[in-house]
Amino acid sequence: MPSSKSSSNSKLRIAFIGAGGIAGTHMNHLSKMDDIEIVAFADVDAASMARRAEQFHVDPNACFTDWKQMLRKVKPDAVSVCTPNKLHMAATIDALKAGADVLVEKPMAATAADARKMVNAAKQTGKKLVIGFQYRYSAKTAFLRRSVDEGRFGNVLYGRVQALRRRGIPNWGVFHSKQAQGGGPLIDIGVHVLEMAHYTMGAPTPIAATGTTFTYLGNRDSNTVECPWKGWNWKELDIEDLAVGQVRFDNGAVLTIEASFAAHIEKNLWSFDIMGENAGGRWDPPAIFTDQGGHMVNLEPHWLPPDGFQDNFFKKMRNFVEHCLHDKPTLAPAEHGLAVQNMLEAIYASAAKGGKEVAIR
Ligand SMILES: NC(=O)c1ccc[n+]([C@@H]2O[C@H](COP(=O)([O-])OP(=O)(O)OC[C@H]3O[C@@H](n4cnc5c(N)ncnc54)[C@H](O)[C@@H]3O)[C@@H](O)[C@H]2O)c1
Repeated sequence: MPSSKSSSNSKLRIAFIGAGGIAGTHMNHLSKMDDIEIVAFADVDAASMARRAEQFHVDPNACFTDWKQMLRKVKPDAVSVCTPNKLHMAATIDALKAGADVLVEKPMAATAADARKMVNAAKQTGKKLVIGFQYRYSAKTAFLRRSVDEGRFGNVLYGRVQALRRRGIPNWGVFHSKQAQGGGPLIDIGVHVLEMAHYTMGAPTPIAATGTTFTYLGNRDSNTVECPWKGWNWKELDIEDLAVGQVRFDNGAVLTIEASFAAHIEKNLWSFDIMGENAGGRWDPPAIFTDQGGHMVNLEPHWLPPDGFQDNFFKKMRNFVEHCLHDKPTLAPAEHGLAVQNMLEAIYASAAKGGKEVAIR
């Protein structure tokens, strides 16, 4: 049985609730650090948990099918919540109440009400709650955000967000299920680009949203067209293929978003633009568009640090560890997760009301 005390007091003893796909990415990065120890797992899939335990040298006796039992017996310093979205709230709150700091994967929760409960639980327990938004650690995001902070854009008026796959409906897990995930591409991949655009705009407070969703392909036989992830669960799929939405903020700014798992477009799109009074910015490829010397100029960074998915993921994991161990500020506080969740939920709520604007409290 795992000890309830750290083998070395300077190490962060971290446990996982949900040890599936993305948890493996967390573990790969954590295993590169010598100030952490992966101490336990909780997952309902005992067989895959056992494989993970072997892979990451975790005591098989520290594998639990019930996270409450794991929290009680292991008393980890920190917990990474990597379950399907609808379980984020319960797992996070239980971990916070058990005295652990928490990193919860994106989206923060399946609903805004759940996200609010999580923020409150973090406040009540005094423990740290961080959202797994790795894209705000991107060098491209930092380039734009710092330029906004330096005042180069003036007031940022508009954000345009696109997370569009031509055909990329996940054929694993429960990504086809609204009940398990809270929605489809908007909440699953739109959230990534939305959160970094919102962060880059200075995290204004959303006050209202409109949206429309469409399902036209994901609920049809998933084996008829050649594509990388054929065979998704089309018979039970009840999420959207395409979502479009618009959010208004308290400072007058507006953001539009398009997100799809399946859309008849030339190629996948994964970027955002922001437009301000004095300049505009594009995330990928990164550039700033402004006026200088009496001319319209395009500015591109001459060099950026490595900025791939894994580079940013490592930075997210490292920041969480340093936030827990050394109080280093996090870039992804729970309040930002809640603002993003409010936007997602209001877009879905508007879609359910035929596109009528929905106020965000
Ligand atoms: N940051 C990113 O880039 C990124 C990428 C992929 C997924 N995610 C997020 O990570 C989360 C998990 O996604 P995934 O791709 O790893 O899915 P997955 O299906 O591979 O893993 C989920 C795991 O949770 C386990 N689980 C289900 N019910 C449980 C319970 N009651 N108690 C404990 N474990 C339980 C499942 O058995 C499974 O092992 C989702 O919220 C998803 O949105 C984030």
